[in-house]
Amino acid sequence: MCGIVGYVGHGDTKEIILQGLRTLEYRGYDSSGMALMSDGEIIVEKKEGRIQNLADSLKGKVFSSEIGIGHTRWATHGVPSDRNSHPHYSMDKSVAVVHNGIIENYQVLKKELEEKGYVFSSETDTEVISQLIQDMYNGDILDTVIKVQKRLEGSYAIGVLHKNHPDELVCAREHSPLVIGIGEKENFIASDVSALLKYTKDVYYLEDGDTAVLKSGEIKIFDKNENLVQREKKYIEWNLEQATKCGYPHFMLKEIFEQPQAVKETFNKRVHNGKADFSDVLNYKDIEKINKIYIIACGTAYHAGLQGQFALQKIAKLDSAADIASEFRYSDPFIDDKTMVIFVSQSGETSDTLAALKEAKSKGALTIAITNVVGSTISREADKVIYTMAGPEIAVASTKAYTTQVAIFYLLALYIAELRGVISEEKYKEYISEIKDMPEKIQKILDDCEKIKPAAEYFKNRINGFYIGRGLDYKVAVEGSLKIKEVSYIHTEAFASGELKHGTIALIEEGTPVIVIATQRNLIDKSVSNIKEVKARGAYIITIGFKNEENLKNVSDIFIGIPECNDLFAGFLSIIPLQLLAYYTSEAKGIDVDKPRNLAKSVTVE
Ligand code: G6P
Repeated sequence: MCGIVGYVGHGDTKEIILQGLRTLEYRGYDSSGMALMSDGEIIVEKKEGRIQNLADSLKGKVFSSEIGIGHTRWATHGVPSDRNSHPHYSMDKSVAVVHNGIIENYQVLKKELEEKGYVFSSETDTEVISQLIQDMYNGDILDTVIKVQKRLEGSYAIGVLHKNHPDELVCAREHSPLVIGIGEKENFIASDVSALLKYTKDVYYLEDGDTAVLKSGEIKIFDKNENLVQREKKYIEWNLEQATKCGYPHFMLKEIFEQPQAVKETFNKRVHNGKADFSDVLNYKDIEKINKIYIIACGTAYHAGLQGQFALQKIAKLDSAADIASEFRYSDPFIDDKTMVIFVSQSGETSDTLAALKEAKSKGALTIAITNVVGSTISREADKVIYTMAGPEIAVASTKAYTTQVAIFYLLALYIAELRGVISEEKYKEYISEIKDMPEKIQKILDDCEKIKPAAEYFKNRINGFYIGRGLDYKVAVEGSLKIKEVSYIHTEAFASGELKHGTIALIEEGTPVIVIATQRNLIDKSVSNIKEVKARGAYIITIGFKNEENLKNVSDIFIGIPECNDLFAGFLSIIPLQLLAYYTSEAKGIDVDKPRNLAKSVTVE
């Protein structure tokens, strides 16, 4: 949700900022812009729309600049336009600011500044920051920004240039992500490490309330008490290749195809000598007192949590409930020190999830984060963290993060089941081996990806559709439905198959696509009956089931077979054709698959 970058050094500042913005474009693509210090002046270029518009407007322009900041926007305050794009100058153009987050008290500050004669040129909350910096400037830009921070309420990661300080890039954070990249005689800032991978893998993560000043050969970080601090230097294991398309037409397809590897790496990281190992996170004493598990997340991560709930209940035999972070916070959940709350977040930065985490912590729960991003805010706030090994996920629609989250849940469920003594050794071995086989089985589905295309061809001309399933299949249906909504703009809803006839079936008409997920063997006869009910009303049936299920094949217009496995683990597999269906439908409709309209990958506002 907005991406910021900054650079100070002797490289090609304009190109470095542009390349950083391209990597961060997934965070928002309503507009982009950059500010460069050149010959004692700050030059700002900004354009509504995709980063290519900015690149086009900068083509042929040469700047002798050794310091700059850039921004890619997901609009919150003020419509997408050149005027509302960042960076924002102060009135006298001595200051330029890029910002990710929301300044909640901006109206009060704006009024105060207007009374002093400041004229605003945008509708954004951000502009109050640049104007305040001009107003409070005391000759020391770092000290000024620290003082300005004390006036700001809300969330922010900011990059600041001041024309009197041509070699200093100042940045600060409060509840929005910001990382400093440490280079050789050059330094960087970015909302996310993926923008830095081309230049450096050594980083500092800023903490809430931190302010930093970067020169080409120096980084100084101050905490919220204005003490000079040394943050821990972290090395990023991700490589640049993981953050590029590597010949795939879209990141989404590349990431779908990376799932066998991602699940394998997640498995290898957590399974040692045939045993799931989370001893760094939980021990018997923790588990002994836990009587309830909540799983809290947003979007696709929440859907992985639904599978997690299933795994924890079925395998670890612990009372578990999954909830949406933005709802959970206000639902007065009964939490105490006997409650474990698991927060799932690919980015580790989602505001609602973070807010729910803080709430759960304050009530004494044991909090565990499952996240993909090392050093992310959620990973640092939670009592314990479990990292998925998905590698950078760039496409807005999440795929490999989801399957690795699911893998973590199943392994965690096994670990807890053994600690609690609720699983036999035989079953344990069988289940571990089921999970171990998943990468190969996922690969088999991917090898047959062409088989999904006829379903996408059918879907692409429809305006709505339904996803149905029972038990675990319903949990997968919800994610399948979200996937196609996100990237193909077709309105779909997921229903528990048995519930469809209580109202929604009225929407089925000739040709309505109904995607049936039917892997739970004890429920297949019931699913067949549900298929017949909707088919009798004209539905076009696309079924995902185990490849030898003849009964299902016979009642389906398109049947997509997946490799056999124990029903408990079928969600690892049945989601893959649904991801491919969403991708191919989007592609067939000519949509920008990786950057669907109105969305941003990381939602850092509530
Ligand atoms: C956004 C993204 C989704 C994602 C959700 C949660 O809505 O578009 O793909 O699932 O945020 O993100 P998180 O980083 O917390 O998993």
